[in-house]
Amino acid sequence: MSHSPSENPPPPGDLESVMTLEQFIIDRHERFPQATGAFARLLRDVSVAAKIINHNIRRAGILDVLGETGRVNVQDERQKQLDEIADRELERALRRGGECCLIGSEEQPETIPLSPDATAQEQFAVFFDPLDGSTNTDVNASVGTIFSIYTLPEHVDRDDSVHVALRPGAEQVAAGYVAYGSSTMFVFTTGNGVNGFTLDPGIGEFLLTHPDLQIPAARAMYSVNEADIEDFSPELRSFLRWLKQKDPQTGARVRARYIGSFVSDFHRNLLTGGLYMYPATADYPQGKLRLMYEANPMALLVEQAGGRASDGHRRILDLQPEELHQRTPLFIGSAPLIEAAEAFLQGRGAEVEGRG
Ligand code: AHG
Ligand code: MN
Ligand code: MN
Repeated sequence: MSHSPSENPPPPGDLESVMTLEQFIIDRHERFPQATGAFARLLRDVSVAAKIINHNIRRAGILDVLGETGRVNVQDERQKQLDEIADRELERALRRGGECCLIGSEEQPETIPLSPDATAQEQFAVFFDPLDGSTNTDVNASVGTIFSIYTLPEHVDRDDSVHVALRPGAEQVAAGYVAYGSSTMFVFTTGNGVNGFTLDPGIGEFLLTHPDLQIPAARAMYSVNEADIEDFSPELRSFLRWLKQKDPQTGARVRARYIGSFVSDFHRNLLTGGLYMYPATADYPQGKLRLMYEANPMALLVEQAGGRASDGHRRILDLQPEELHQRTPLFIGSAPLIEAAEAFLQGRGAEVEGRG
């Protein structure tokens, strides 16, 4: 006796109604800034690199790609093998794709001009942190990749391209990240909302699982390295004291979560509500996170998800970059919490205390 489909719902994990990243990009590409399809191909190139990087990360101990390269990168940080592999795979994918004319990487001292296809109708620059949270690689903790995409004016003089490309984050045409966590997720925006895709390793596709993400306004989680608290300003310490107060009505209290990977802390806070902070410290007087390929892309994403990103005084997306690897203090997450942080940091904490 045949059963109507409704009597036999598909088993869990059935791929009956899936939307792959590629389908999503094609279906929505008319909303992308470049309807030529070049932009869709550029995003595809980044997603291919993400799958290759994921493949290396998931087998790191087996492939013997853990540990350090023995070199110090331009950040004066000891480079991990997976930093170098992720950087190499992103550069290769963007070169193969032929849509990108300039890359800027955390792992490379200068920007690198690429020769886009002669037919390329658009000039794209891509800035990226190939592997975020590198200290986590050898201890099997979460890491990520962050990317930021700008268009460049037609026929940029290659010698001038880096100065043309270093523009405020508000001018990004797209931004996103890959979170290599308990599952691997690709989350991005083109200025029309934030959408999250989960990699199905069985078919090698990123599938839409988190459409139209919005960050809750909840004071759920906060992420900061409190080992540096002696370096924090009195205003920041007052903010942290306010943040940790129990809710007078519910008795609820914010939870501390600091993974050591900005991508992982950001992604969790995006889903639960909360904020991530990396303020100025003695070791990092300008903050540790880099504007072009950490703060800017995540600031675009969080604003598209209804949140905010600030250096404590100014909107991150308004900052005019001066050089590729410049750092910035960063407060990013649920809008009410960033507004409260700014009030305390600007000496207006009493306004917030009064509101409770
Ligand atoms: P990266 O691995 O790309 O250098 O980034 C690491 C960043 C960020 O991901 C993380 O939240 C922060 O550095 C951790 O720094 P501390 O160990 O100083 O807290
Ligand atoms: Mn990073
Ligand atoms: Mn990195």
